[in-house]
Amino acid sequence: NLAHFGLIGLGTMGAALAQNIAEKGYPIAVYNRTTSVTDEFMANAGDLAPRLIPAKSLEELVAAITPPRAIILMVPAGPVVDQQIEALSPLLQDGDLIIDAGNANYADTERRDRQSEGETYDFMGIGVSGGEEGARHGPSIMVGGKPAQWDRVGEMLRAISAKYDGEPCAALMGPGGAGHFVKMVHNGIEYADMQMIAETYALMRDGMGFDATRIAETFEAWNKGPLASYLIEISGKVARAVDPIAGGPMLDAILDAAGQKGTGRWTVIEAQKLAVAIPVIEAAVVARNLSAQVAARARGADVFGAMPQSLPKDALDTDTLEAALIAGKILCYAQGFDMLGRASEEFGWKLPMPEIARIWRNGCIIRSEMLNDMASALAANPGENLIFADPFTRLVKENEAALRKVVIAATGAGIAVPALAAGLSWFDAMRTPRGSANMIQAQRDFFGAHGYKRLDGKDAPHGPWWDKTAG
Ligand code: 6PG
Repeated sequence: NLAHFGLIGLGTMGAALAQNIAEKGYPIAVYNRTTSVTDEFMANAGDLAPRLIPAKSLEELVAAITPPRAIILMVPAGPVVDQQIEALSPLLQDGDLIIDAGNANYADTERRDRQSEGETYDFMGIGVSGGEEGARHGPSIMVGGKPAQWDRVGEMLRAISAKYDGEPCAALMGPGGAGHFVKMVHNGIEYADMQMIAETYALMRDGMGFDATRIAETFEAWNKGPLASYLIEISGKVARAVDPIAGGPMLDAILDAAGQKGTGRWTVIEAQKLAVAIPVIEAAVVARNLSAQVAARARGADVFGAMPQSLPKDALDTDTLEAALIAGKILCYAQGFDMLGRASEEFGWKLPMPEIARIWRNGCIIRSEMLNDMASALAANPGENLIFADPFTRLVKENEAALRKVVIAATGAGIAVPALAAGLSWFDAMRTPRGSANMIQAQRDFFGAHGYKRLDGKDAPHGPWWDKTAG
């Protein structure tokens, strides 16, 4: 037997990953529940066929791999993963390793990791980003597991991953669910990046009256500057695309209701459990939820008058929009990395923060030039929020006024910019030494005797609200 690796699930991502692994020189046995899918996969294997070993059953798959085996699951996240582990585990022997490479919830990965103890197999969960193209030619891989497991599969994962300046975009994040947790936050940031881009699109289309070509040109220009990134690049491309059915810009023919598989929502839920503030990501998730309320939005327009209005002439230019997006993006990543830092402490993971930024520089959906500077800034300023690390302190200072100008202009014209506004509001809070939570503390004490601390440090257990003399 040639193969040490196997893969279950030849859907879009699984097929692409198997081809990538074979192409990098690793023979791999593949299995899909529906055999015709495997047949079709092999029929399209071309030059890679000699390194791809098709199996018609799990028994055949296991038999085709030389121990110690490493078998990658690329099946839909959720119960299907548990079913596969259950079906596979009796066929395995000590030293065999099951790798879940789907978009699992990190808590499920933690549970499956615990369940594998005392079983015949080992288990690890890895986050893979980059869509089909990435899986085929080089994804970003966020690995969760024990160092010994990483030693076993790290060489292969680095080989199939994307490279940035020759450095592989695959690394060990930490034990158990750490890899899938980092992937989840990646997706939260992905939602936020997409939402902020959509907000600048709304400002150009509705506020500034740009046609699709001008919008495409603007994204193309931004892609040559500090915002250079995959998501800005594809935004230019989709703005340029023509509707093959009705002619005209493709974007104009697409229903404005965003779907979601849920990883962004998970990020917000986990942030709330950790009591960390990631308002830009939250705003992005809420915006998707709200976008789906198509009928309610139409009714709102009928009852209250339709928004948005156009911006006053010369209220904004594309340089200001670009600067606002730079500021918004930095504030969003500052929140995302803050969440990762807090999770790392809470779960005792020791997440390698600069390494996270490094493996996001290429292969994944949020890949961008800015992440290269973030990696350096996080390495030079351990434990520090990104907004307090240069060059980001300087960049926030330089671009903050533009963000404020954009949020003010958008609000005036009824153009919803929830993510950009949430970034600004977080930033304002982050520079307000005397906030308003003293009022909340007083209210809590009034109705629940929850107590408060005094600024002068003197003892003040409660009151004076219930004191008759205080009125
Ligand atoms: C990636 C993506 C991917 C994700 C899709 C869909 O990193 O390759 O994050 O894993 O599944 O982007 O996400 P939504 O359907 O929730 O938008």
